[in-house]
Amino acid sequence: MFTLPQLPYPTTALEPFIDDLTIQTHYGKHHQTYVNKLNAALENNPEYLEMDLIELLKSIPSLPENLKGPVTNNGGQVYNHNIYWESMAPNAGGKPSGKLLEAIEETFESFEKFKELFSAAGINQFGSGWAWLSVNENKELEVSSTSNADSPLLHGKNPILTMDVWEHAYYLKYKNLRPDYAGAFWNVVNWTEVSRKYEALV
Ligand SMILES: [Fe+2]
Repeated sequence: MFTLPQLPYPTTALEPFIDDLTIQTHYGKHHQTYVNKLNAALENNPEYLEMDLIELLKSIPSLPENLKGPVTNNGGQVYNHNIYWESMAPNAGGKPSGKLLEAIEETFESFEKFKELFSAAGINQFGSGWAWLSVNENKELEVSSTSNADSPLLHGKNPILTMDVWEHAYYLKYKNLRPDYAGAFWNVVNWTEVSRKYEALV
């Protein structure tokens, strides 16, 4: 069975940038529902319930046809939200340091330019989706956006930072103002964790 990972902080911890009620609903209802639906979709194929989630997602092309859609959507959303909660922390934000900062400056010219590019990826994503910073096959950094439950993981890359831009991620507090949410997001980015993921990959 797949389970909902523990939220790494209380639901109030990212106030005022990401509000308590949004996290209660987003984590406790939306994320939990994706976990439940993934388990329900696999109940007649228990061998898949024993797999690691990343391993399961990477094996989507070889899954039975009737499982490809439910695993892509629900499994993808479980994974995407796992990375999202890990991407944030209380008393965070600011800038990365060390190897990750060097790589960001080398790839995107400056940390400010990287922020603009990542924010734009999220703000300009049409409809529901995600903004990502990933490490590609050549160990280079890449900014991208994906729709719905898709992620760079399903395209051979390793995500290290994500911002959920589904309306459920911001609508209670920011209403239709996705750019305000995207601006607030930088105050809670957990660069310690993003750097840890980066250094484990390069
Ligand atoms: Fe979400």
